[in-house]
Amino acid sequence: MTKTINHFIDLPEIDPEVVKGIMKHAHALKAEKFSPPQVMEGLSLAMVFDKLSTRTRVSFDVAMKQLGGHTIVMSKGEMQIGGAESIESTAKVLSRYVDAIMVRMSDHENMQELAKYAEIPVINGMTNQSHPCQIMADIMTIEEKMETAQGKRIAWFGDYNNVCQSYIDASKIWDFDFVMALPEDLNDNVPKGVNFTNDAKVAAKGADVLVTDTWVSLGQEGKNIDKFWPYQVNAELMALGNDNAIFMHCLPIHEWEEVSEEVAKSPASVIFDEAENRLHAQKAILAWCLKDAGVKLAKPLGF
Ligand code: CP
Repeated sequence: MTKTINHFIDLPEIDPEVVKGIMKHAHALKAEKFSPPQVMEGLSLAMVFDKLSTRTRVSFDVAMKQLGGHTIVMSKGEMQIGGAESIESTAKVLSRYVDAIMVRMSDHENMQELAKYAEIPVINGMTNQSHPCQIMADIMTIEEKMETAQGKRIAWFGDYNNVCQSYIDASKIWDFDFVMALPEDLNDNVPKGVNFTNDAKVAAKGADVLVTDTWVSLGQEGKNIDKFWPYQVNAELMALGNDNAIFMHCLPIHEWEEVSEEVAKSPASVIFDEAENRLHAQKAILAWCLKDAGVKLAKPLGF
């Protein structure tokens, strides 16, 4: 019989009710943050990075350790992968040592290949295509601030990217209205069926959440940003949002390009709650991925 492995690579690959259950667990774990259950005792997580990271690296490390587990962190340059050793061999070897692998890998297909050969869960810590752990933290933050994401209007400003794609995926699970505002010459980047406009004010009007990301992603250094200035989230755009509209950003910010300093440091900005929630959301993701390794889940979870 084939063993099911709970990979956390892309939200559409997981039953929406399971994703919502993981979210419920994240809230429960946050409530227990001063006495976290030691459910990862004896379990180890390998973390592999081929790009820079602050939040993903620290929050996964702390999440695993607070739950009683162990971590080993490696960057690509310290490993045989990408040189002498194939992804298949790396996946099979790591599967003999640790209980799960969290990977930040530029190439999404390489991550999928790692998951194909791994005999343990693989967690997507960001690829060029998606950033599902970030979106779990974002939805958790929205639920904290406005009880539910369902029915809210979430406006994205700037180019389509991996975080934007995970928002699009999340909109189908939590049933919120997602609109993108981006320069006209980038219209072809918008995935089919996604609501978009070239007028930032149209997107901001009536929004509950205004969200953006750097205009220049890791690896795109040197990109011309002139055309993005009309999409900067500033006080004028925030004022068009609903009462109590919040500003979100996965961080790091390119100061002060995609967001003004005034907005980033305003009471409407929830960026540090969002960063903190990476920790809680990822504890729940780890617990779900490792539940077949004996990890006990809080009740009720709904899955
Ligand atoms: N938001 C995010 O993924 O941050 P890091 O790149 O620092 O991990």
